[in-house]
Amino acid sequence: MAKSFYVTTPIYYATGEPHIGHAYTTVVADFLARYHRLDGYETFSLTGTDEHGEKILEAAQSEGVTPQIYVDGLSDRFHQAWRALDISNDDFIRTTEERHKAVVLAVLQKVYDKGDIYFGEYGGLYCVGCERYLTDKELVDGKCPDHDRKPEERVEENYFFKMESYRGWLRGYIQDHPDFIRPQGYRNEVLSLLSESLGDLSISRPRERVPWGIPLPWDEEHVTYVWFDALLNYVSALDYPTGDRFDEFWSEANHLIGKDILKPHAIFWPTMLKAAGLPLYQHLNVGGFLMGSDGRKMSKSLGNVVDPFDLAAKYGPDAVRYYLLKVVPYGQDGKVGEVDLVKRYNADLANDLGNLVARLRALVLRHLDGVVPGPNHQESDSDLIEAGAGLAAQVRGLVDGLRFYAALEEVMQFVRRLNRYFNDEEPWVLARDPGKRERLGTVLYNVAEGLRISAILLEPAMPGKAREIRASLGLADVPTSLEAAATWGLTPAGTRIADKAPILFPKAEIPSVETAASSEEESAPDEPVEGRSREPIAGDDEPEADASEGPINLDDFAKVDLRVAEVVAAAAVPKTDKLLKLTLRMAAEERTVVSGIAEHYRPEDLIGRQVVLVANLKPVKLRGIVSEGMILAADDGEGNLALVSLDRDTPAGSQVR
Ligand code: MSP
Repeated sequence: MAKSFYVTTPIYYATGEPHIGHAYTTVVADFLARYHRLDGYETFSLTGTDEHGEKILEAAQSEGVTPQIYVDGLSDRFHQAWRALDISNDDFIRTTEERHKAVVLAVLQKVYDKGDIYFGEYGGLYCVGCERYLTDKELVDGKCPDHDRKPEERVEENYFFKMESYRGWLRGYIQDHPDFIRPQGYRNEVLSLLSESLGDLSISRPRERVPWGIPLPWDEEHVTYVWFDALLNYVSALDYPTGDRFDEFWSEANHLIGKDILKPHAIFWPTMLKAAGLPLYQHLNVGGFLMGSDGRKMSKSLGNVVDPFDLAAKYGPDAVRYYLLKVVPYGQDGKVGEVDLVKRYNADLANDLGNLVARLRALVLRHLDGVVPGPNHQESDSDLIEAGAGLAAQVRGLVDGLRFYAALEEVMQFVRRLNRYFNDEEPWVLARDPGKRERLGTVLYNVAEGLRISAILLEPAMPGKAREIRASLGLADVPTSLEAAATWGLTPAGTRIADKAPILFPKAEIPSVETAASSEEESAPDEPVEGRSREPIAGDDEPEADASEGPINLDDFAKVDLRVAEVVAAAAVPKTDKLLKLTLRMAAEERTVVSGIAEHYRPEDLIGRQVVLVANLKPVKLRGIVSEGMILAADDGEGNLALVSLDRDTPAGSQVR
């Protein structure tokens, strides 16, 4: 039987336009869906809109339209947004659809009949933004920190779900299943919530106050609480309880959410499933939050809002997808901005990838009549071939660990390696000597083959560009799968490349503050990248003036993201005396860092130590290991190193300033 994979995004509140936070989670989900399809899985990917509840009612009333008309319009905007970002969802569920309502009624009835729902009175602090009661601990200065709004004091007669009675069971389940909630930091957060009484969950609202919702099957005067309604979308879209889809996909469910909705997904949802007699989902994958480029929550008044659809219109959907997947390691918070996007776009996509495709094509067209011949490898090609054939396995390991950033970086490192091979072999020089024609063919074959593999592995992130690369290299009909990416040599000998192909990634100008879709403090002094060469120009031995010389200002320093990290594992790197491979934990995230301290520290002495990590360094590959940052140490100039440490225990992930 085929392997199955089910991935979901949160269903977004139909109360406002889709924004970059929604786009982020949806792009990550789509990456996983496309990756699993490439790997031969039967895949079902779901997104949708959450359309009931007080928040929607308030928004519709303020617009002076009926809630249904209001949600119809906004749900449509989400549809359009996902088309603009090339999202390949298999279904789009709306909680106002009959197919969904029927499932909510059936599950409510089942839990009610079981005796897990009772009627009572509840008083507490309600945040309409979160659509839930908050505990005192969750408030900051008396306000909900996510919505910057004072919760309302409420006393109301509601139906309650006996959630507290499932607390012990859920705690045990999470303890026994370390991968149920990922990354680990969020699992720990949930376990800590579960160590104290939860109370029961109010699951209804009086219809006279909130008329916009699904009436309870046994008492029409009350409507279903919006979270109890919304969470069930994940099974109603699979036609629970009757459908084959449910049988095929439910046990493979991977939910993707932002950290703001951890509690409903990690606590309400599993206890609801248990009470309704349904198996649990497989994984809850929790992403961090994206902030404006100034590090603050995006808001119109701060002028730091980044609009993913403006960006997609300007740079194409694939550039935005690639950027979102690479802007921050999954699980961590990060800053986003247009200037940053353009810099990465120009460096990784236009320079490293796009140029290589163009240079290869030019030589094949000019010297080989547009045909890539069969190769005749020599010994010196074997390292490249080995790296290319092993790339898919490296990527697989990283994607399995939700390390999308590192997975894409791994592919881009390989593309850089192809560039080096191309430059070292100098095929334009080989082309001048008729006696070196066979070698010329082999070199160009190897570059084309490396690009075929890279294009497959980049496809989940950049489906459109991956297709364009294949088409421009005459490989449109060559199979694409992870298996095909793991095999070197599938570019057929005699492949005819396309005569014409558009520039894959035209270089983009770094926007100035005035033209940026977002405002960014660092954007002003930048010069356009167009025409700026990254390699030294032959004959030009004048060193370039370095603008970074001399004293720096605070803004320059603030670009370095220094973090407290805890060493959770350390081991010597084989075949070197100098390097240690460290696994570092920062809040919810783990990183691998290769550090040149092996002559000064024994691995076992480092475990549990706190170090200071430069967390936003571009990853580099050292001895085949992708190193994601650098730890700080002092050097006395006589060969002695001392690690920078803290004078008291500080939570891992804390910023060092
Ligand atoms: N309707 C509920 C979810 C119900 S799921 C059964 C909801 N909707 S929402 O429109 O508020 O979307 C929340 C989700 O959007 C977050 O969990 C996260 O996935 C995404 N994001 C919203 N803003 C974000 C950022 N600034 N950064 C990253 N993702 C964020 O909650």
